[in-house]
Amino acid sequence: MSTETQAQAASDGEVNGGKQSLTVTDNRTGKTYDVPIEDGTVRAMAFREMKVSDDDFGLMTYDPAYTNTASCRSSITFLDGEAGVLEYRGYPIEQLAEKSTYLEVAYLLVNGELPNQQQLDEWKHEITIHTFVHENVKTFMQGFRHDAHPMGMLLGSVGALSTFYPDANDIKDPDNRYIQTIRLIAKMPTLAAFAYRHIMGQPYYYPDNDLEYPGNFLSMMYKMTELKYEPDPRLERALDVLFILHADHEQNCSTNAVRAVGSSQVDPYSAVAAGVGALFGPLHGGANEAVLRMLRRIGSMENIPSFIEGVKNGNERLMGFGHRVYKNYDPRATIIKKACDDVFEVTGVNPLLEIAQELEKIALNDEYFVKRKLYPNVDFYSGLIYEAFQFPPEMFTVLFAIGRTPGWLAQWLELVQDKEQKIARPKQIYTGDRTLDFVPASERWA
Ligand SMILES: CC(C)(COP(=O)(O)OP(=O)(O)OC[C@H]1O[C@@H](n2cnc3c(N)ncnc32)[C@H](O)[C@@H]1OP(=O)(O)O)[C@@H](O)C(=O)NCCC(=O)NCCS
Repeated sequence: MSTETQAQAASDGEVNGGKQSLTVTDNRTGKTYDVPIEDGTVRAMAFREMKVSDDDFGLMTYDPAYTNTASCRSSITFLDGEAGVLEYRGYPIEQLAEKSTYLEVAYLLVNGELPNQQQLDEWKHEITIHTFVHENVKTFMQGFRHDAHPMGMLLGSVGALSTFYPDANDIKDPDNRYIQTIRLIAKMPTLAAFAYRHIMGQPYYYPDNDLEYPGNFLSMMYKMTELKYEPDPRLERALDVLFILHADHEQNCSTNAVRAVGSSQVDPYSAVAAGVGALFGPLHGGANEAVLRMLRRIGSMENIPSFIEGVKNGNERLMGFGHRVYKNYDPRATIIKKACDDVFEVTGVNPLLEIAQELEKIALNDEYFVKRKLYPNVDFYSGLIYEAFQFPPEMFTVLFAIGRTPGWLAQWLELVQDKEQKIARPKQIYTGDRTLDFVPASERWA
C-alpha cells in the first residue's frame, strides 16, 4: 500500500481492526492513554488528563495561528484546498455563481437550505425595506475626516448600529436574531456607499428600493443628477456574482474574529464590526489592490520575462498567486475570470488584463510555480473588475465586506446556537518573569 492509501485506510478505520483512537505514551510518567479519534480529530482536552502529578495542570496543545486546530463544528462551508473545491451548504460555488443570486445565497447560508418562492420573496422584501439607516448615521459619518479610509468608516458605523438597536443584545431570542440579521445584510451597502460618498465629497444618496440589491448599491454609489439611476444589468449581475464568491470561506481570520467576539454573547453588530476590522488587515482583504499596483508597475508585455525572473529569484512575489489553503486553482478565480468578459463588454477592456493573462499563462507552465502549487487566487482578477466599475482601490475591501456579511452572520448564528461553545478563551505558554518584588518609583530612580 502507498503511504496515501495507508493513510486513507487508517482514516476509514480499515487498519488495526477499525480502532478509532490514538494511543499516547507520556514518557515522563510511562503512562499510556487512549485518546478517541472522532471526525479525524482528537479533543485537546483529552491531553489535560496527562499529568506528572496530581497538582499538575495537565498537558496543553500549542498551536499559534490555529493552523491545525478545529475551533468549531460547522455545516456552512466546505473547502478542499488540494482539490480546489468550495461549497456553501453542500452546493458547489460554480453552480451558485452561475444559477443563483446573492440574496438567495445569503438565505441559503443563513437558513441552511434553499428557499421556496414565498420564502425568497419574503426574505428579499424584508432586506429591501431595511436598507435605510437612521438619519443620525449620516451625521455620524460626516464626523469622519475627509480622507478617512472607507473600511475604517464601515468598521465604526457597523459597530455604531448597536447603539441604534439596543435590543440586539437579546441574542437568545430567535426572532430578535432574525431581524438583526436582516438589518445587517440590508444596511451594509448603504453604509459602504455613504463611506464612499464621504471621501468623494459628494451628497449621500438614499437607497432606491425599486432596484435589486446590487443595482441599489450602484445607485447609492454613482447616482448624481439623474432622477433615477438605471444600472446596466450585466454590471449588476457581475457584482452579484462577486458578492456570491465572497459570501463565506469557513474559518478564515475575519470569521474567527466574529466568532471570538460573538462568543462573549455581545450583539451581532459588535461581532460583525470585529470581522470588518480583521478584514481591513492587508493579509486578509486587500491583496487585489496589490495585484493592480504590480500590473501597473510591469506596464507592458515586454517587461514580463524580467518580472517573472525577479519573482523566481525571490525579489518579490507574484501577487494574486498562491493561497494558504488552495493548492490548486482557486475555484473563485475561474469564475471571476469569466465575469471579466461580461464587465469589459460594458466598460471596455482594461489594458492590464492582457498583462494579467500573460502572467498567468507563463506561471502555470513554469516549474517554479508548478512545483510550489501556486495558482491564481480570487484576488488575481477581482481588482481588474473592481477598477472597471470605477471603484477606487480603498473600496475593494469594503466590497468584500458587503459580500461576506451573510457568511459572518451564518457563522455567528451557528455559534450562538451551538451548545458546545463557550466564551473563546485560549491558553498561553507564559514566558515572563515571576514573583518579582515591586520597588516604588522613587526608590528605583534614586
Ligand atoms: C497567500 C500566501 C500568503 C500563502 O502563503 P503560504 O501558504 O504561507 O506559502 P509560503 O509563503 O510558505 O510559500 C511557499 C513557497 O511558495 C513561494 N510563494 C508563495 N506565494 C508566492 C507568490 N505569490 N509568488 C512567488 N512565490 C510564492 C514562497 O516563496 C515559498 O517558496 P520556497 O518554498 O522556495 O521558500 C502567499 O502565496 C502569497 O504571499 N501570495 C501573494 C499574495 C496574495 O495573493 N494574497 C492573497 C491571498 S487570497
